Amino acid sequence: MVPVPLYKPENVIGDEVIDGIRDVLASGWLTLGPETRSFEDEFSTAHTSEHGIAVNSCTSALYACLRALGIDEGDTVVVPAMTFSATANVVRLLGSDVVLCDVTETGNMDPKNLARQLERYDVAAVIPVHLYGLPADMPEICRLAEDHGAAVIEDCAHAPGASIAGKPVGSFGDAGCYSFYATKNMTTGEGGMVVTSDQELAEDVRNLRNHHQTKSPDEKAENWGYDVDGLGFNFRMSEIQAVMGRSQLERLPEMNEERRRVAQQYIESLDGISGLEWVGDRDTINEHVFHLFVIRVADEYPLSRQQLYDHLAEDDITTGVHYPPISELSYYDDIRGDHDTTDGLYGNILSLPMFPEMTDTEQQTVIESLREPIDE
Ligand SMILES: Cc1ncc(COP(=O)(O)O)c(C=O)c1O
Repeated sequence: MVPVPLYKPENVIGDEVIDGIRDVLASGWLTLGPETRSFEDEFSTAHTSEHGIAVNSCTSALYACLRALGIDEGDTVVVPAMTFSATANVVRLLGSDVVLCDVTETGNMDPKNLARQLERYDVAAVIPVHLYGLPADMPEICRLAEDHGAAVIEDCAHAPGASIAGKPVGSFGDAGCYSFYATKNMTTGEGGMVVTSDQELAEDVRNLRNHHQTKSPDEKAENWGYDVDGLGFNFRMSEIQAVMGRSQLERLPEMNEERRRVAQQYIESLDGISGLEWVGDRDTINEHVFHLFVIRVADEYPLSRQQLYDHLAEDDITTGVHYPPISELSYYDDIRGDHDTTDGLYGNILSLPMFPEMTDTEQQTVIESLREPIDE
């Protein structure tokens, strides 16, 4: 059998990237320069937002947005119970309280449960996550948040290029935060982006990114004088990363389409495997960008989730569990909020190999291995 990894970044280093990096190195300007500005413009335009601020990770992006919104000690922020720890960690890092919102059977924030959390707590901000690449119900989440005077920061780490009725995720709330981590739909190795149409928020995030200096590096090169009028960080993106990002952004629609092709084949094959179901909703396939393809192992399947994980590993197929819910993490054992549906999903989910250049042979290897325990 051919070994099948969980992820394989697609063709990140094409000739245009090598040429672009060579030009950057020759220019002598290696960070926050023309490549970064072009990447910000191109990314924000593609996501129909007025401003793009490139940073070094989605974690920095989320943290900077919350801080720019004035989220502080004593404030309460709602995050989905099913997400990567970064979504909740940024809230605690600000000294604020995290409240968990339960998810629906697709893994996304459940607006009904959000309404409950907004009634129970005095909520300053909500961070919906477009989990696995499926857009959360943004019109309803934004309506509820607005009714309660809460800000909305979208965690779009899994969903660059995803949209709801043609409107890109990240453009519904006050800001959208993206990740270009090595395994994401588009990558710069590490990296992130904030998109927003709020001029003041954009300016605050830009200041936080670069130590709150009153001049950008190129402005300082022209005239050294500058002030520091607040506290900031080094959340900068390098010009080398921006070259990779521009090339990846250009290929994003095609790479997302390839992910959709792989997902469609999985969905059709799962129809013939009793006890394994896709964690998703067929009506939303065209809005989904399939960062992950996640299945639920039901009782009628001959193996438990752990046994299936081990069986696939024996066939050299790598899978994973996304994610251990926030309430399962020892640091969060005192967490408030709801997570019943999340807990039910967590016991049974498994992420199958998913990447744009997946060959039919690789995918058939996975499908046959999933079918094998039934045929035995
Ligand atoms: C849902 C979610 N949010 C935030 C992050 C953090 O992204 P980064 O690694 O770019 O900081 C991740 C990373 O995997 C994620 O999956």
